[in-house]
Amino acid sequence: MKLEGKVALITGSTRGIGYAVASLFLKEGANVAICGSKEENAIHAIEKLKEEIKIEENQVLPIGVNLKDTQSIQTMVEKVIQKWGKIDILVNNAGITSEKSLLDSNDEDFDEMFEVNVFGLLKTTREVVKYMKKTGGSIINTSSMVGINGGRNQVSYAASKFAVNGITKSLAKELGPYQIRVNAIAPGVVGTDMMKERVTEEMKQRLIQMTPLKKMAEPKDLAGAYLYLASEEANFTTGTIIQVDGGLVM
Ligand SMILES: NC(=O)c1ccc[n+]([C@@H]2O[C@H](COP(=O)([O-])OP(=O)(O)OC[C@H]3O[C@@H](n4cnc5c(N)ncnc54)[C@H](OP(=O)(O)O)[C@@H]3O)[C@@H](O)[C@H]2O)c1
Repeated sequence: MKLEGKVALITGSTRGIGYAVASLFLKEGANVAICGSKEENAIHAIEKLKEEIKIEENQVLPIGVNLKDTQSIQTMVEKVIQKWGKIDILVNNAGITSEKSLLDSNDEDFDEMFEVNVFGLLKTTREVVKYMKKTGGSIINTSSMVGINGGRNQVSYAASKFAVNGITKSLAKELGPYQIRVNAIAPGVVGTDMMKERVTEEMKQRLIQMTPLKKMAEPKDLAGAYLYLASEEANFTTGTIIQVDGGLVM
């Protein structure tokens, strides 16, 4: 098992990409804090995981966190430290999206996008690094193809994901001396609730046609790339943004 004895905190792991990553990390022996916007969502996700894979009772910790709130983020990190005493892997995966033109976007839209996707990620990372500095570790940020190519009517989401890429590269430089690796995954289009909210059936078919692999990813198709970055196999990989998009953006 590739993550035996490791402790992982994964934001946004109650569903979608984060859930699939949590499932694979658990199969590889990690202890995982399953985090969602409400504790009951995290408890529900753990019940579902237990139906799908074999998990030890002490291998999971459900946490509800509001990534817009600094105190809530600090409490999330403290809960993980209290239970397992360290954090080896941080996956900053939780995120929101929006499909609005520039002129339709108001100040609240801009603020919310950055509060969750950028400041929530930065604050979580700051709180975790206080502990991770002592042990080294791996930080994996979920970016997006929109953070590489931009997106029509997605200017605030694109801005937030370009910021995530900048944070990834800057922190790789800053935290490298502590043996903390910082990388990002840039998914293309993945069949999750987020995607279903904004992509019509017609758009979906068009995207599939534009994708060299001629299919749309399921969350589990992304998980292997996260496992690579979390594992010792990536011990000389830092500051990279790995596209997992079926070749859609190149
Ligand atoms: N799906 C795609 O096509 C796609 C493509 C490129 C990039 N991405 C990126 O991949 C990541 C995951 O996307 P997904 O499609 O898997 O998302 P999703 O299915 O919509 O799930 C979002 C997750 O984030 C959590 N979350 C949302 N807002 C939060 C907040 N304010 N505080 C705490 N937790 C919060 C949710 O918790 P609850 O369940 O409790 O609400 C949930 O676990 C995001 O960063 C997204 O931008 C997705």
